[in-house]
Amino acid sequence: MRIFLIGFMGSGKTHWGKQVAQRLSLPFYDLDEVIVEEEKRGIPDIFGESGEEYFRSREKEVLEKIVDENTNMVLSCGGGTPCFFNNIEFMKKYGTVVWLNTQVDVLLHRLLKERVQRPLLKDIRDEDLKHYIIRKLNERRMYYEQADVIISKEDAISMNDFIQTVLHA
Ligand code: S3P
Repeated sequence: MRIFLIGFMGSGKTHWGKQVAQRLSLPFYDLDEVIVEEEKRGIPDIFGESGEEYFRSREKEVLEKIVDENTNMVLSCGGGTPCFFNNIEFMKKYGTVVWLNTQVDVLLHRLLKERVQRPLLKDIRDEDLKHYIIRKLNERRMYYEQADVIISKEDAISMNDFIQTVLHA
């Protein structure tokens, strides 16, 4: 089985992905990390030197490669992965897509602390961040909503409930 975790930056995809993979004894991949390994440079450098369009095309290629090479795995996507090309249809075709629909205030709290590695946030002032999250989330919602499973209040669900919900999708 393939499980794809999607959701906004700071929604907890990597945190949950690693634990779900461990509990189900599946290999775990973080899409951004695989891109960084292949490119031999960090996400901010890829955006800064080659632009977002280049990043999105590499993101799609690496997503397809990981799927091609793994019939069983958990993949934590980047926040934008399902919103470009046909990535969401592709993921739904080859596995179960889980949207971590984390509340805006939780995202804000986390992103205020963890924004250095996130090029989309680098020019946004702290006081504008909440507004940015709401606007971007509204733009992306139509893609996220296509997930097979939607987990709301991820900070209040147990690992067992999370796994049961995903397995019964
Ligand atoms: C992005 C999210 C990032 C990373 C890139 C773009 C986005 O991943 O892929 O900075 O468009 O939301 P995380 O969601 O893991 O931060």
